Amino acid sequence: MTEFRLTQVSDTHLSRGRPFARLTENFHRVSEHIDTTRPDLIINSGDVSWDGPTSRADMEFAKDLHGALPVSCRYLPGNHDIGDNPTAIGTPPSHPASEKDRAAFVDVFGEDRFHFEAAGWCFIGLNSLIMNTAIPSEAEQMDWFAGELSSANGKPIALFLHKPLFLQTPEDPETPGTAIRYVPQPVRAQLVTMLGKHDVRLVASGHVHQRRDFTYGRMRHVWAPSAGFVIPDKMQEVIGTKETGLVEYRFRPDSFEVRYVRAPGQRDVSLDELLGSSG
Ligand SMILES: [Fe+2]
Ligand SMILES: [Fe+2]
Repeated sequence: MTEFRLTQVSDTHLSRGRPFARLTENFHRVSEHIDTTRPDLIINSGDVSWDGPTSRADMEFAKDLHGALPVSCRYLPGNHDIGDNPTAIGTPPSHPASEKDRAAFVDVFGEDRFHFEAAGWCFIGLNSLIMNTAIPSEAEQMDWFAGELSSANGKPIALFLHKPLFLQTPEDPETPGTAIRYVPQPVRAQLVTMLGKHDVRLVASGHVHQRRDFTYGRMRHVWAPSAGFVIPDKMQEVIGTKETGLVEYRFRPDSFEVRYVRAPGQRDVSLDELLGSSG
């Protein structure tokens, strides 16, 4: 295969509950676009479901919708699927990621991390929510990740995970309001050191519900927009572009292209709309 076409969808936040029908509608528009474009693979980079820890049915609903796509999917968990990272700064998460929630995600989606190769590239997906939890799978994943990086054997590497690594630089200080937005310290520094020893060219994430594309050093950082909804400015500062959509990649040996796309009919549903229509 000399070209590998990959579509990243993120933050679909799916649930069968009626208040979330607008998110299902947006997913249907994304599905139609995928049916038209037929990439080689879909990656959902997390927050696949609305509230996985309290509703396995949300994850099962999301899995059914992804399973109906005409293209294979790989899955990574988000904080809405398995709970959030403990951080050194700021309020502790009300629901930290646990072994039980991770296992439930794996049970429904079949994985919480992945590795594969295509078009001369090495693709690695990480579960970013177990970082800083000290649960056994955190250390186990880090050992696995180190092994996968080493076994890339000089191939360029594309990394996928739910949370972006940082806003501007790896040394950005954590703040109480934003620590949960990025991979938390001290794991972030550990990851950045590991990535710097290998030919990592792309770090693709979701979580922020704002799309953004920047290069720091040799690494391009692509923040996928949410496929489902945007967060109003009164609830979240603007640090990228608040639009729903998806990201299309074309990988060829030694190069890649990135394109932000909005599926025909996909709407900028606001979180306000969702919360206002609950009940
Ligand atoms: Fe999200
Ligand atoms: Fe998230």
